[in-house]
Amino acid sequence: MKIAIYPGSFDPITNGHLDILKRGAKIFDKVVIAIADNMRKESYFSVEKRLELIEGCTTDLDNVEIDRFKGLLVDYAKKVKASVIIRGLRQVSDFEYEFQMALMNRQLNDNIDTIFLMPHEKYTYLSSSVVREITKLNGDISRFVPENVLKELRNKYGSK
Ligand code: PNS
Repeated sequence: MKIAIYPGSFDPITNGHLDILKRGAKIFDKVVIAIADNMRKESYFSVEKRLELIEGCTTDLDNVEIDRFKGLLVDYAKKVKASVIIRGLRQVSDFEYEFQMALMNRQLNDNIDTIFLMPHEKYTYLSSSVVREITKLNGDISRFVPENVLKELRNKYGSK
């Protein structure tokens, strides 16, 4: 059984993340989408809420599990018996950070490989931070996030 993890902040999950998750789920037997909760950066939604939001928009994906993790990603990967880390690459500017992270993770555990998947072009410009900013400024984010995330953002911030 080939298991991959798809780690990230997912604050909140966007249609771009879902696109990558679905592509990964077609390739691997099981994909664990894992929220990092030891991040230095302050989060917009709590880990519990982010978990709930991911749960709400992935019910149709049979081979996807949702989890959270603390500590090193490679240690978590080993714990859940994943041999692959999935990361999304939207544009060249993502590459430098992703390259460093992938190679550092390889230094930490050479048995775990990182693979990069490209989301559909329509999500090239999309990120959780852009969604958050547009929400705060009362813009329309309905095309960028799943229905349940949209509802939550609207409840919290009264966006369109
Ligand atoms: O969605 P993000 O914020 O780009 O995800 C980054 C994440 C969570 C994958 C990365 O920060 C991470 O792996 N954190 C766990 C701690 C860790 O293993 N750090 C060493 C990475 S080289």
